Amino acid sequence: MNLFDVYSLFDVTPVKAKGCRVWDNAGQEYLDLYGGHAVISIGHSHPDYIAALTDQLNKIGFYSNSVKNPLQEMLAQKLGKACGYEDYSLFLDNSGAESNENGAKLASFHTGKDRIIAFNKSFHGRTSGAVALTDNPAIVSPFNANHKVTFCKLNDAQSVENELAKGDVAAVIIEGIQGCGGINIPEVSFMQSLRSLCDKYNAVLILDEVQSGYGRTGKFFAHQWYDIKPDIITMGKGIANGFPCGGILISPKFNAVKGMLGTTFGGNYLAMAAANAVLDIMNREQLIDNALKVGEYIKSNIPASTKIKEVRGKGLMLGIEFNEDVAPIRKALLFEKHIFTGVAGKNMIRLLAPLCLTMSEADEFLKAFNEVL
Ligand SMILES: Cc1ncc(COP(=O)(O)O)c(C=O)c1O
Repeated sequence: MNLFDVYSLFDVTPVKAKGCRVWDNAGQEYLDLYGGHAVISIGHSHPDYIAALTDQLNKIGFYSNSVKNPLQEMLAQKLGKACGYEDYSLFLDNSGAESNENGAKLASFHTGKDRIIAFNKSFHGRTSGAVALTDNPAIVSPFNANHKVTFCKLNDAQSVENELAKGDVAAVIIEGIQGCGGINIPEVSFMQSLRSLCDKYNAVLILDEVQSGYGRTGKFFAHQWYDIKPDIITMGKGIANGFPCGGILISPKFNAVKGMLGTTFGGNYLAMAAANAVLDIMNREQLIDNALKVGEYIKSNIPASTKIKEVRGKGLMLGIEFNEDVAPIRKALLFEKHIFTGVAGKNMIRLLAPLCLTMSEADEFLKAFNEVL
């Protein structure tokens, strides 16, 4: 049997990783400024993370959500403290897309309405509702396209109000910072308008923090830069450092009804052991502060070049936008300098390093980047 061939692969086979380093099957070492697409938060193979998962596996690996699991409550307590949303509730699932599905579903249950506003260049995942909320027709099948979704322009509050005024909008969903769409940071005043417009028209404000959350931008959630409180916050990626896990934070104004949300694997013991270890390590090693410090250092030291149009982002969620296709630069970084980076579209190198990236690793990247420019 062959694998269903949907991924464009680099000819690299990682077999080992530690901190911000990855080794391939030929023993070649790489510096990781991609974090497996913003997933590695505390660094690869952290000893305390390995110990937590190993210990849990030796106790119990899985049971269902029909019995008590104190590790879920432990995570809710820790997470509430870490992100400042102690009065919100936590629902646990398995991925970013599933978190957005659950956020959208909850908003629709709560309001009784069925249309959702998303934004141009958004990415919210690949499951049915999440991909319908994603502004990329190439990945939306006719089946997915039946959802009622309207795309508005980022930073255009008037167009959002025009849609909300029609009275059928359950929710507005927006990324804290657009990731796949090209590291687009919404204006603070726009985000504050979204908050008040959602209140005015009884719509739910959903912040997709799957990529921009969990410390990546130098605050726990990117929306905390804008001084707003969403009704629902969706999470994934860095939450368990690579163990599949997602979740949503839900404002106290929502009532839980038995059976309205559910999942077989969400909140399982191993994911919880991983997610609890991630928060402990983030806290102990002050990784959010580190992400801000090292990210700002990289941003302000990207060399000036006629090839580069703009450098933008916050913390360790950075985009270097070029005036040209970045594929050759990314390839040179990977195969000549042995540095993993990401892209957004054709013209942007996207950096999503583990939050433990050191200043000397940042310097190593800057030197290599300068050389391949
Ligand atoms: C902002 C955002 N939302 C949702 C998702 C989907 O997450 P997952 O791939 O875990 O389903 C992604 C993945 O890249 C993302 O960047």
